Order: sequence, then C-alpha cells, then structure tokens
Amino acid sequence: MSKTIYIINGPNLNLLGTREPEIYGSETLANIEAACAKAAKDEGYKIAFQQSNIEGEIVDMIQEAGRKGAALIINPAAYTHTSVALHDALKAIDIPAIEVHLSQPAKRESFRQISYVGQAVHGTISGFGANSYHLGLQAVINLLKT
Ligand code: DQA
Repeated sequence: MSKTIYIINGPNLNLLGTREPEIYGSETLANIEAACAKAAKDEGYKIAFQQSNIEGEIVDMIQEAGRKGAALIINPAAYTHTSVALHDALKAIDIPAIEVHLSQPAKRESFRQISYVGQAVHGTISGFGANSYHLGLQAVINLLKT
C-alpha cells in the first residue's frame, strides 16, 4: 500500500511569505513543505508536495494522487470557489481527501462563501494559518488508520 500523502497547492500559493501576510501569514510554501515532510515522516509517511497556478495541471495532480497516493490534502486557493473541474477530479478518486485553507474563507468576501471543492472532499480545515496543513495531515493520517 502507498505511503505517500499528496499535498497539492493552487494558484498564488507560491507567493506565500510575501503575499498579503496579514491574511496568509509569513511562512513560505517551502517552510510549510518542510514542516509537513517532518510531521509525515514521524508517522511513517512521505509527502509529494506540489503547486501549480494552472487549473488543468492541478487536475492532473489529483489524478496522479488517485493512482499513486495513500491520501490527498489540497489547498485549491482561488479555484476552491470556481472549479467544477477540481470538484469532478476529486469525485473520481478513491483515496481520503481533505481541503485546507490558511485563512477562514467563511469570514471573508461573499465570493469565497462557496467551495466547489468542499463538496467533493471528506472535510475542511481552515483558519489556522500554516498550522491548517499540520492539522490536515493529522486528519488524513487518522482517516488512513480507521
Ligand atoms: C486560500 C483562500 C482562498 O479564498 C484564496 O483564494 C487563496 C488562499 C487560503 O488558504 O486561505 O488563494 O485558499
């Protein structure tokens, strides 16, 4: 059985650290990747950490996770609120999948109030900054144990 947890990041998350730090914090995506790799290793898993600004590439990443991964964590960023393609890709795979967000979209603009992705995953963790990823990892590892 696969021991790889895919962690997939959507558009503009490559800019974390400098992008609206008052909303998204000062951690870079590389810092988040390093923390996730360590936390996963402590539990006997490795991670495949990916980022793209291109919707179709994220669809490909989700499909790859479905073929090769044990579980999937996704921060779809802005595509959360627009993408039927990501929703459909997540519906098409058969591994535990959860959604994470650094910020709490429910407290933000009205266009962030719908999540196409949230309707296709096991659950959502949002509002804890970079720690949302760590909590997400714990959540999928617990799902894998049950
Ligand atoms: C985000 C929230 C989205 O609404 C936004 O478009 C992002 C980041 C978050 O992690 O808080 O790019 O997914």
